Amino acid sequence: MYLAPDGVSRGQWKTRLGFILAASGSAIGLGNIVFFSANAYRFGGGAFYLPYLIALFAMGIPVMILEFGLGNFTGRAFPESLYRIAGKKGEFVGWWAIFNAFFITMYYITILGWVFGMLTGAFGDLWKESLPVPAFGLEEGVLDNPYAYFFRMLSTWQPVLFVLLVWIFNVIIVRRGPETIEQATRIFVPLMWIFMIVLIIRGVTLTNGFEGVMLLFTPDFSVMKDSAVWQGAFSQIFFTLSLGFGIMTAYASYLPKKSDLTQNAFITSFLNCGFEYIAGLAVFSILFAFAMVPRASTLAMMFFILPKGISQLPGGLQAVIPFGTMFFILLLLAGLTSSVSLVEALVSSMRDKFGWSRWKTITVAGCFGFIGSAVFALPQIVNPGLQDNGTLGFTILDFVDHWAFSYGLLIIGLFECILVGWIMGADTIRAHLNSHSRMRLGIWFDALIKYIIPLALLFVLGYSIKNEITDGLYGTAFSENYNEPYRFMRYFPGIVLAFWLLSSTLLSLRLTRKGKYESS
Ligand code: ALA
Repeated sequence: MYLAPDGVSRGQWKTRLGFILAASGSAIGLGNIVFFSANAYRFGGGAFYLPYLIALFAMGIPVMILEFGLGNFTGRAFPESLYRIAGKKGEFVGWWAIFNAFFITMYYITILGWVFGMLTGAFGDLWKESLPVPAFGLEEGVLDNPYAYFFRMLSTWQPVLFVLLVWIFNVIIVRRGPETIEQATRIFVPLMWIFMIVLIIRGVTLTNGFEGVMLLFTPDFSVMKDSAVWQGAFSQIFFTLSLGFGIMTAYASYLPKKSDLTQNAFITSFLNCGFEYIAGLAVFSILFAFAMVPRASTLAMMFFILPKGISQLPGGLQAVIPFGTMFFILLLLAGLTSSVSLVEALVSSMRDKFGWSRWKTITVAGCFGFIGSAVFALPQIVNPGLQDNGTLGFTILDFVDHWAFSYGLLIIGLFECILVGWIMGADTIRAHLNSHSRMRLGIWFDALIKYIIPLALLFVLGYSIKNEITDGLYGTAFSENYNEPYRFMRYFPGIVLAFWLLSSTLLSLRLTRKGKYESS
């Protein structure tokens, strides 16, 4: 068993089932329940499926095998794993991934805080037809629910309290690493599946519900020429399988050496995509039964469009309250099993690096994390008309999400394939993977890791960046609508990028205690 630098055991999963539940719990999250359906609709319904499936088999599963292999081969979290195979430049990429993931963790937990807030509303107010929204100064002063409920909540400081609660849950669950994560996921993951199955049965048995499902599978091949569809499919696969975050490497570092990593990767990916698939059925059937078009951002889908669909379920409040409550509990459970994996990826990386005790590391990560999440919950009104984003926190979240989700994960994926494929050698990791796996990886695995995945990622990233430059960087146009003091928001992506580069460089160059990694 591997020891942390302080000589304490790094921890280990008790059973293989425990690992599968934790890894699939990490993968199954908000990305499966709402982001997938919103993206699928945005990119042409059924047409999204083909790039998505290609991305799953040609990119998602191989990168998951790679991340499992890396963690298990080195017995360390992401930055040190990459350091061990590629030195300082590897460590730089590792920390970049961890910082990118930390930004995502912070806003992911804010979204979970909002989910918590909506859950408290699901017992009553959320389902009233409309509510006044004085804070936004809208002319008519009232808005339809659940839109109104959500923005009323956002324009108060309440979400900061919810965010604190979600951080406390996370700290409790990761307090003893794999041991406590395994205990929590053994309860949460089966519950999630049960709730999802109940929702899908309700969805597809609604009048017209099945027609919504058909829309999800009706392809529109004309959109496949668009690079944005491919970027959407690749980012969705990375996000939904929790790749490019350092999570799967950290989780696999807690597995015994003799584990069947390839099979574990296939099982985790299929469980995740199976869940995503049935979630798509539930979402599309509920929306289409009530003639609602999910032409909206992912957050809009989660907070107003789907709840609006639920509010129209037959049976009045007696049906709406239990289904609505179940929907938000499902989001919370799925989100928590993912957020704990994000926190654990950071905690294990910091412990490998600094040799701090688990409690000290969790306290530092939790405090910084909470402050960051609270920023995304800032209630100052940026855009009173609500044309784009209403509050300052929501706006920052939208900008960070755009860069971290659509670019960050893919950039990390590109670099990890290059480092493992070319510097460590795809055949070396393949030999490790094959040494205990029933399913033997062939030379095709090397070809994917060395050539096909990096080239596909390079192509999609290059094309998207080119479009971004031609059309104006994300947010520059709509930030014109903001109140005067908030127009600076357009510089935010630059500030975040500078922070990433600087902090990753510092951690991989200046702060390394020489020989630390080698000796432990
Ligand atoms: N894989 C996690 C999700 O889909 C992060 O939400």
